[in-house]
Amino acid sequence: MQRFTNPRDIYHGKGALEALKTFEGKKAVICVGGGSMKKFGFLDKAKSYLEEAGMEVRVFEGIEPDPSVETVMKGATFMQEFGPDWIVAIGGGSPIDAAKAMWIKYEYPNTTFEDMCKIFGLPKLRTKAHFCAVSSTSGTATEVTAFSIITDYAKGIKYPIADFEITPDVAIVDPELAETMPKKLVAHTGMDALTHAVEAYVSTACSEFTDADAIHAIEMIQRDLVNSYNEDMTARDNMHTAQCLAGIAFSSGLLGIVHSMAHKTGAAFAEYGAHIIHGAANAMYLPKVIAFNAKDATAKKKYGIIADYMHLGGASDDEKVALLIKYIRGLNDQLNIPHCIKNYGANSYPTEQGFVPEDVFLKKLPEIAANALLDACTGSNPRQPSQEEMEKLLKCCYYDTEVDF
Ligand SMILES: NC(=O)c1ccc[n+]([C@@H]2O[C@H](COP(=O)([O-])OP(=O)(O)OC[C@H]3O[C@@H](n4cnc5c(N)ncnc54)[C@H](O)[C@@H]3O)[C@@H](O)[C@H]2O)c1
Ligand SMILES: [Zn+2]
Repeated sequence: MQRFTNPRDIYHGKGALEALKTFEGKKAVICVGGGSMKKFGFLDKAKSYLEEAGMEVRVFEGIEPDPSVETVMKGATFMQEFGPDWIVAIGGGSPIDAAKAMWIKYEYPNTTFEDMCKIFGLPKLRTKAHFCAVSSTSGTATEVTAFSIITDYAKGIKYPIADFEITPDVAIVDPELAETMPKKLVAHTGMDALTHAVEAYVSTACSEFTDADAIHAIEMIQRDLVNSYNEDMTARDNMHTAQCLAGIAFSSGLLGIVHSMAHKTGAAFAEYGAHIIHGAANAMYLPKVIAFNAKDATAKKKYGIIADYMHLGGASDDEKVALLIKYIRGLNDQLNIPHCIKNYGANSYPTEQGFVPEDVFLKKLPEIAANALLDACTGSNPRQPSQEEMEKLLKCCYYDTEVDF
């Protein structure tokens, strides 16, 4: 038996934020990040719509990118003191993910972060509050997914919380919020969305339900991502829908080792000046993982189907896989994303001398590989790597060398 779970309602299209006016409840907490939603007026709009619905509203602001366990605990205390029956998270993946974890702690104050990370092990939520997610980036699709990614900075590791209990009750996919994204964010979140769709399509947990969403998302991303990056607002609006479809695909169809590696490298080099931004990590690792997974016959065939849907040409599945890899590398060039960690500059742009020194990478490699193997996304990857293969794969991602194993 498989399960396909989505929010009860997805309000989409321009002006969908106004759906907040129809919510029923007494108290709502709005969770936001560092300021973009305030600056562009969406926080004020959301607040006034909820007030129009007769609710008392408080705002928890300042949730940082790649949110920490500490922020989650602080937000949960804020909620316990206020007692909301609606949690409305507005912004990118970071504030929405943090709010999801706060929700768990708010409903069950004795829960520890370790408890939350037990895969599909959460108790029943919605005893105190319902959850609405309003996405402002076009990538994570956390507004529709059963996941939340929280970083333990003491360990330098991102942990996924995974359970259908944290699938939001309501998702608002209003493209107006995504129109203010700077180009770099469009590039990173767009490649995150493409990775979601590709990984979900070849995942061992895929189904007809998730395949349909994944393939259509891939077609839309091929058509719209580069144009969105080049400030075409119709394409930008379409990308907001496409990333949500990719999210519907991976929330039930799950992901693979591109995400395992991105989760375990993202914060591992933080002391050397920068994070490897989630979407950029995916963009660099996806071509390598496709080459690795294509040794599995079923995965190879499915990559071939993706290439066909994208009209990339190729007479055999091997040729189609090669063309798909070439296409994705071409996308990285058009979006100004490097091909490997060695060339990943502190500002996330390609550079000769990236911020992760070779000796540091090699020293951390065995541990990063071991952690990636343990990541929740590894189990649904079509080919299960050994520790040695994971280390080799990560080396290919560092040096941009060919995957021939
Ligand atoms: N829950 C999931 O299923 C899932 C999936 C993939 C990634 N993630 C996680 O999500 C996080 C990344 O989220 P993200 O890529 O959406 O970025 P983000 O939420 O970290 O935001 C990045 C920056 O963009 C700004 N920003 C957001 N929306 C904007 C807008 N419309 N205009 C201008 N600026 C804007 C923010 O203020 C912030 O400074 C990572 O922690 C990643 O691990 C979660
Ligand atoms: Zn992702």
